[in-house]
Amino acid sequence: MQLIRSVKKMQNLSLKLKRKGKKIGFVPTMGFLHEGHLSLVERCRKDCDILVVSIFVNPTQFGPREDYKSYPRDLKRDIKLCKKYNVDIIFYPDVKDMYPEGFETYVELEKLPNHLCGLSRPGHFRGVATVVTKLFNIVQPDVAYFGEKDWQQLKIIEKLVRDLNFPIRIKSGKIIRERDGLAMSSRNKYLSEKERKEAICLYKSLLFAKELIEKGERDVSKIKRKMRELILKIAPKAKVDYIEIVDPETLESLSRIKERNLVALAVKIGVARLIDNMLIKVKLTKEI
Ligand code: PAF
Repeated sequence: MQLIRSVKKMQNLSLKLKRKGKKIGFVPTMGFLHEGHLSLVERCRKDCDILVVSIFVNPTQFGPREDYKSYPRDLKRDIKLCKKYNVDIIFYPDVKDMYPEGFETYVELEKLPNHLCGLSRPGHFRGVATVVTKLFNIVQPDVAYFGEKDWQQLKIIEKLVRDLNFPIRIKSGKIIRERDGLAMSSRNKYLSEKERKEAICLYKSLLFAKELIEKGERDVSKIKRKMRELILKIAPKAKVDYIEIVDPETLESLSRIKERNLVALAVKIGVARLIDNMLIKVKLTKEI
C-alpha cells in the first residue's frame, strides 16, 4: 500500500495506471474510518483493479462556526484499517497543496443545495462539490463510491457528474448502523455515554414515520410533528435542525406522501450534529 501526499504525484500515477488499462475505484473520505466507509471500500475492492481511498478533512465544506478544527482525525488507525482492507493507495493531501494561495475556482449547484442540510450549512455543498471535482481530476477514477447517509451529498455528486460530463460511475452504499440502529458517523465520537443512548432517537423517529406511513398516514406535517415529539421524548435536550419528507431525487418538500419519499432529519445531540434518513416507498391505495 502506498501513502501519497502530493497532488501531482497522485495524478501522474493515476494517469499511468489508466494508460495501462487499470480500472480505478475511489472512496473519498475525511478519515476516522468506520464500518460505513469500510463497506464502500470492500465493494470497491471487488469491482476494481486499483483501490484509492482519500483522507482529507476539507476546510471549504465547514462553516466558520463548525467543527473543522475538532473533526476527529486518526491517521495511524486509518492506515491500519486500509492495510487490512487491501487498499492500494491512500491519498492524503495537504491543505496547501489542495488549496494553494490564490485559489479561487469553486463548483456550485443551483437547486439541490437549497434543501435539507444546505439550508442550515450555507456554503457546505459548494465546498463538497469543489473538493470532489478536484479529487476526481486528481484520482481519475472510473468508479467512485458514496454512502447514502448523506443522501443530499449523493444526489449532488450524481448531478455534478452528469452536468459536467465526468466519465465516472457513481455507486452508492446503504447506511451502515450500530446494533441499536444509530447510523455510523465519525461525529458519533463527540457523544457522551448518555448522549450516545439518546442519539437513537433519530433512527427511532424514522422507524416511527415508516410505521405511520404504512398504516396509511399521508399528511406530512402530522408525521413530522409526531417524529419531533418522539425525538424530544427520548432526548429532551436535543435540538432538531430539520425533519423533512422530500422527493428523493429533487429533494423538494412534500405535503402529502407520494410513492417514493425520503424522510430525512438533522438533530443536534450535545455538540454532535447528526443526520439520518430513510427511503420509504408506498403503493398509494389506502388514503385516510
Ligand atoms: O462525505 C464525506 O466524507 C465528504 O463530504 C467528502 C465526500 C469526502 C468530501 O470532502
